[in-house]
Amino acid sequence: MTEGCGAISRRDVLKTSAAGAALAGSIGPGGVALARAEASAPPRAAVRMKVNGRQVSVDLDTRTTLLDALREHLKLTGTKKGCDHGQCGACTVIVDGRRINSCLTLAVMHEGDEVTTIEGLGTPEKLHPMQAAFVEHDGYQCGYCTPGQICSAVAVLEEIRAGIPSHVTGDIAEGPAMTVTEMRERMSGNICRCGAYSNIAEAMAQVAGVKGDAA
Ligand code: FES
Ligand code: FES
Repeated sequence: MTEGCGAISRRDVLKTSAAGAALAGSIGPGGVALARAEASAPPRAAVRMKVNGRQVSVDLDTRTTLLDALREHLKLTGTKKGCDHGQCGACTVIVDGRRINSCLTLAVMHEGDEVTTIEGLGTPEKLHPMQAAFVEHDGYQCGYCTPGQICSAVAVLEEIRAGIPSHVTGDIAEGPAMTVTEMRERMSGNICRCGAYSNIAEAMAQVAGVKGDAA
């Protein structure tokens, strides 16, 4: 290795190594660990959303799901965590008018969005019509799936009214009819271990004004 002006000399390498060793020795093992931890800290972001009509801003690890942001950071524990994998529907909330599984989406993806959880649909004193119908028709037993079922049910009726087709829509050009078959198909992503499905269908049919046997 030469000692020229552009090239790195062996003496330079030795000097740098010695300086590095001295620095590490002066920082100590704890300091090195801290520096490493800081370098690998996940990025954070302030996320602003309108939740149940209230403007909120939360500082989050960018990997936080919307479900965890609602439950752990905003303390809105009405929304439930079932599978945390998009398979049970317990975490369903309404975002900008459409239902989504909040365990499958990151909170940072909802900057500026309007989120409605079960707490925002009604109050114990003034229930949302769907909440009242669930009570009237015994649409739950343990109640764990119920917040997701109710949020989903509310959004399902809006989907049908908006003409969004489903797998059982006969004529897509004509659009879906408000039928129990349409409702049941669209609710198939909301699992109820207690098996309150017939009662849920009855509650939805009542709110939708659909006559006939929902069972
Ligand atoms: Fe989100 Fe099960 S907790 S779908
Ligand atoms: Fe118990 Fe649905 S009411 S899981």
